[in-house]
Amino acid sequence: MRLTIVGGGGFRVPLVYGALLGDRAEGRVSEVVLYDPDPDRLSAVTRVLAEQAADVPDAPAVTATTDLDTALRGARFVFSAIRVGGLEGRARDERVAFAEGVLGQETVGAGGIAYGLRTVPVAVDLARRVARLAPDAWVINFTNPAGLVTEAMSRHLGDRVIGICDSPVGLGRRVARALGADPGRAAIDYAGLNHLGWVRAVRIDGRDQLPRLLADPELLGTVEEGRLFGADWLRELGAVPNEYLHYYYFHREAVRAGAGPGPTRGAFLHRQQGRFYEEARRPGTGALAAWERTRAEREATYMAENRESAGAGDREPEDLSGGYEKVALALMRAIARDERATLILNVRNRGTLAALDAEAVVEVPCLVGANGARPMAADPLPAHATALVCAVKAVEREVLAAAETGSRATAVKAFALHPLIDSVDVARRLVDGYTAVHPGLAYLR
Ligand code: G6P
Ligand code: MN
Repeated sequence: MRLTIVGGGGFRVPLVYGALLGDRAEGRVSEVVLYDPDPDRLSAVTRVLAEQAADVPDAPAVTATTDLDTALRGARFVFSAIRVGGLEGRARDERVAFAEGVLGQETVGAGGIAYGLRTVPVAVDLARRVARLAPDAWVINFTNPAGLVTEAMSRHLGDRVIGICDSPVGLGRRVARALGADPGRAAIDYAGLNHLGWVRAVRIDGRDQLPRLLADPELLGTVEEGRLFGADWLRELGAVPNEYLHYYYFHREAVRAGAGPGPTRGAFLHRQQGRFYEEARRPGTGALAAWERTRAEREATYMAENRESAGAGDREPEDLSGGYEKVALALMRAIARDERATLILNVRNRGTLAALDAEAVVEVPCLVGANGARPMAADPLPAHATALVCAVKAVEREVLAAAETGSRATAVKAFALHPLIDSVDVARRLVDGYTAVHPGLAYLR
């Protein structure tokens, strides 16, 4: 079974390959094809994977190519893990936003819109190629902003593209652990959009234990989200939000923290990963050791620029490494072997959240099997959550329209309608600022 990784020169690819090396079951991935437009990154990562596989019998064979169509032919699964414009682009997204006093985060607010505008045309091109060259393949989208990018691809691939994120699983795990339950046995009722969802119930042996957690400030203090949002606010909400909702509920503080002195998250990661790719290229150095070193450093500073205050204290190593590879592997396994699994994924709504149309990609628990992922019925969101979800989905739709038509005015509309951007003039200046620094936005006219 062939797995193609688009963005195969990416820093997290060794995590995926490490997970594959641990999979001994029948019908596992036997062949990995890495595609990346950058041959240097590709050879650095290929060296790491070769060292990882050194002592493993029957390790999946790895090949690398800079030709996308070659990489896609014959693939059973395609992981899309691209970063259009690289980490340098991410740092530019942040800088332009902070200069206007708004958020530059790669998935939320102005930064997320800019990143989406750059990424959607590339993701759509990829989706079209998959539809033509590997029509039976399943595409698992890792690329942020994951909900928006998955929706863009679903217009060409239907339900054959599924978006993943590790944050709902990580949140569910932390909440279950705080309640003294085995995370594997807790049913997490979570719904919303990617990076915009809420845990509304945690059912352990059929009984919802979330009220017990919300009523206990001390217990809540043991969970990262409890410290991040504060016990009073969570009790008021009656739910535990995804950590990314910090950008909404504490917007002003988040902007202040992010725009403070020191490098932005993107600039920090850019410098750090740059060192890895440089080291891995040097003959004689251990590529795997260089990767491990950088990874450890990254984990130590896991929390994004405006989430530092929460600390990474109660995160398990699997939380810190993202856990993306585990979600992706669980999804791939459930499809390939028709092993029934319940996973929180980004899929088309099909009536699950009544306020959104059927085509809107949402993040909800899904039943997964050989036929893909089906959203499970979900209780309606409370009004405040529905309002936020609808506002952000409307922005995403403007981003998709701008990417499709190349209309600059539509791009302005996307920024201006975002709940965290408080002026149409700011939106206009953001479009000016972003088009000035991103060659990838030259299509906006
Ligand atoms: C979380 C999010 C991801 C994001 C990751 C890394 O796991 O769910 O979407 O890519 O954090 O963030 P970082 O700021 O380290 O790139
Ligand atoms: Mn995510």
